Amino acid sequence: MSKPELKTLVTEYVHGKIEKHNEIKQDLISQILSSDSHSIFDETERVSYTDLNYRDQARPWLPLFFDNIKPYMNDFVKLFMHDNWAIHHTWYFRYLKGEYSQWHVHPDCSWTNVYFLQLPDKKSRTTLLNASSGEEVIIADVEEGDIISFPSTVIHCSKPNMFDEDKIVIAFNSDIYDTKVHKTYPVETYKRTTIKDFNTEERKAAKQREERNRDNVE
Ligand SMILES: [Fe+2]
Repeated sequence: MSKPELKTLVTEYVHGKIEKHNEIKQDLISQILSSDSHSIFDETERVSYTDLNYRDQARPWLPLFFDNIKPYMNDFVKLFMHDNWAIHHTWYFRYLKGEYSQWHVHPDCSWTNVYFLQLPDKKSRTTLLNASSGEEVIIADVEEGDIISFPSTVIHCSKPNMFDEDKIVIAFNSDIYDTKVHKTYPVETYKRTTIKDFNTEERKAAKQREERNRDNVE
């Protein structure tokens, strides 16, 4: 093997909802519309209003967003048997008719997250790219108020908004840490093809073996 090859493992993504989306949508949009913004018209993006360049700064709409993203993030880390999470950067994109983001990835983080604050039509959903097959993947049941999270190495884009209504998304980068996976699945699981088969009895036996081994070493 002279050059590295792309192999396929399992790639998980998470699909959830902002519980109070209907209650906060208008306030959040109003705050975003009155925030400082800039445009991007280059080979990567065509978007009239965003605060991407201010993503390291405090902005008026962030507190309302953070209050409502916390429950999702707390549930999110549990899915991966972790205890804590961090959000590094947060920004909005407001796509007018015809505007889009080209294929890209998010560097310097583990997860890319997209909250669909205003989605004029399902055809405007974020599109992912399967790098192994070259096929586009559209998460079929995404609707306004939903949030999707996927590994930051997954290439994705926002296809042109074909509608008169603006498409508004809030994107953010995140990491998870403080894993507790070793407490649920001791290292003996390496022998198995799937950790889902690892039942309670086997876990108990593995724990006892671990304790015996530790006692022998001490
Ligand atoms: Fe993105």
